[in-house]
Amino acid sequence: MTKGANRMLLVILIAGLFCPMGARRHVRVGLLMPYNRTELIPLMGFSTTAGAVMLALDRIRDEHILDDVDFSFYWEDSRCEESASIGAGTKLILESKVDVILGPPCSAGAFVAAIMATYYNVAVVGWGASFYEAKDLVRFPTYSRTDVGSDDLARAIAEVMDYFQWVEFALIYSDDMLRRECYFINEGMDIVFADLAYSFTNTYSFVVNGSPTTNDYDVFLDAIKPRARIVIACLDDPEDERDFMVRVHERGMDTDEYVYILPDLHDNDGGSILAGSVAVGDKQRWNDRSPNPDGKDDLAKKGYEKALIITVELASGDEVDKMRKEIPSRMKQPPFNCTTMCDGPEYQYGSTYSPYLYDAMYVYALSLNKTLQMDPVNGQRNGSMIQDNCESNFSGMTGDVRINRNGNRLPTLVVRGFDEYLNLIELAYVNVSQPNGHTVQLNVSSASVFWGARSGDVQPLSRPICGFTGLD
Ligand SMILES: *[C@@H]1O[C@H](CO)[C@@H](O)[C@H](O)[C@H]1NC(C)=O
Ligand SMILES: *[C@@H]1O[C@H](CO)[C@@H](O)[C@H](O)[C@H]1NC(C)=O
Ligand SMILES: *[C@@H]1O[C@H](CO)[C@@H](O)[C@H](O)[C@H]1NC(C)=O
Ligand SMILES: *[C@@H]1O[C@H](CO)[C@@H](O)[C@H](O)[C@H]1NC(C)=O
Ligand SMILES: *[C@@H]1O[C@H](CO)[C@@H](O)[C@H](O)[C@H]1NC(C)=O
Ligand SMILES: *[C@@H]1O[C@H](CO)[C@@H](O)[C@H](O)[C@H]1NC(C)=O
Ligand SMILES: *[C@@H]1O[C@H](CO)[C@@H](O)[C@H](O)[C@H]1NC(C)=O
Repeated sequence: MTKGANRMLLVILIAGLFCPMGARRHVRVGLLMPYNRTELIPLMGFSTTAGAVMLALDRIRDEHILDDVDFSFYWEDSRCEESASIGAGTKLILESKVDVILGPPCSAGAFVAAIMATYYNVAVVGWGASFYEAKDLVRFPTYSRTDVGSDDLARAIAEVMDYFQWVEFALIYSDDMLRRECYFINEGMDIVFADLAYSFTNTYSFVVNGSPTTNDYDVFLDAIKPRARIVIACLDDPEDERDFMVRVHERGMDTDEYVYILPDLHDNDGGSILAGSVAVGDKQRWNDRSPNPDGKDDLAKKGYEKALIITVELASGDEVDKMRKEIPSRMKQPPFNCTTMCDGPEYQYGSTYSPYLYDAMYVYALSLNKTLQMDPVNGQRNGSMIQDNCESNFSGMTGDVRINRNGNRLPTLVVRGFDEYLNLIELAYVNVSQPNGHTVQLNVSSASVFWGARSGDVQPLSRPICGFTGLD
């Protein structure tokens, strides 16, 4: 720290001590997110996301949560890499002297950046990283987040399986070696499924590095035919997921016996997964989004009719859509002044994770409000105190946001699937705050409505009555 900065800090401290009335406080907010990884731009790239912070600030101003605070913003590229996340995060703390870091949104980077920030006792609020270890308060005393932990998502899967008394299952997941969302979801499943409350048997697992090929899908589907009817499929790239469901149909494995459980942390009413596309909201998971559509939407939908999507319930589509539409103009204004870099057509709609960043800024403001009342002098830079105070309950962009004292989101997950009219609807909710066995609440009048897309409305079994081969 330079002498000048020391003196500056002293002035602020004295101001805080002796003239609390009317004195304005200055809070520095750091943002860490990937800049130009093409695959991540529609999901969480700087140019499609950062503006959410300014929109959250509008709400903070409207609600007079921190009227005496002036904010300044600093941003760095986390590249969705561990080393960049640590390096750029350290730069934010030591050079830009930020009071809080929002992000990074990739789990591997958030993990190490949060540990680094613990050393400086700086608050980190996550908005896209699902690593389950965040619950460990010894390692992550300054970390909180608005997104959902992979263990909670895994628990929702386990609870749904338990609810329907499914025991045997097969698993396929991909590892994009970048964000690695499915890799982290799989880690969550490893932890949760080992709970003695459950007695699941994984009869076949298949992991693909990068994007799976049609041949990979065939190998997997051939292998599970004699082994499983309940299939958990987690594919990092939504286009891969669609290809898989097309293949499921083409291979005749979308019969009434099969259930494909698709865990996902950012399903938005089934649509707008790739937010950069023009017809956002109109697109469903089974719609091809590539410039040269393969014309297989109907086949994909057939596959999806046998799927249960387990995901996070966001706020109403209209509200989120409005916010995401405003992000491009906010990027062009101060503090970001992002003109040329944010001009491309792919930057004209807020990213999938921008609602989580919006809520992250808002949670931070609520917590800072409480923290400053407890300790007006040192609270602002006390990351563990910020975490202690982040317990909250409000209606955010990502639905009803409930955060516990440990900084973890207590989500209500939603199970989406098809009704008898083959419309995608919300079939059930999973409230992870409830004890095992009590989390699943059907949002349909009976189990037969739940399975309305299948002939006879019959619930599938994890092992068919006549066995996997039909010969037992
Ligand atoms: C905290 O928020 C309330 C309104 O919810 C406001 O009255 C109060 O002044 C705020 N405290 C600080 C320190 O800004
Ligand atoms: C990506 O962003 C980094 C800044 O973190 C910059 O150094 C690099 O040149 C950029 N690459 C492209 C292709 O724009
Ligand atoms: C953004 O533009 C405003 C004026 O419009 C200017 O005051 C500010 O310094 C600029 N910020 C950056 C980071 O260039
Ligand atoms: C920071 O807050 C914790 C409570 O979370 C408290 O025990 C500690 O003394 C505070 N540190 C400073 C430097 O005020
Ligand atoms: C959270 O808020 C909702 C509605 O605002 C309320 O129904 C619920 O009881 C609150 N929960 C807690 C734990 O405060
Ligand atoms: C989830 O369960 C908790 C704990 O019982 C309860 O406070 C909360 O209101 C429930 N949430 C929903 C959406 O039902
Ligand atoms: C299912 O959820 C939707 C949306 O929350 C609601 O409008 C509908 O009434 C619910 N259906 C049942 C049967 O509870």
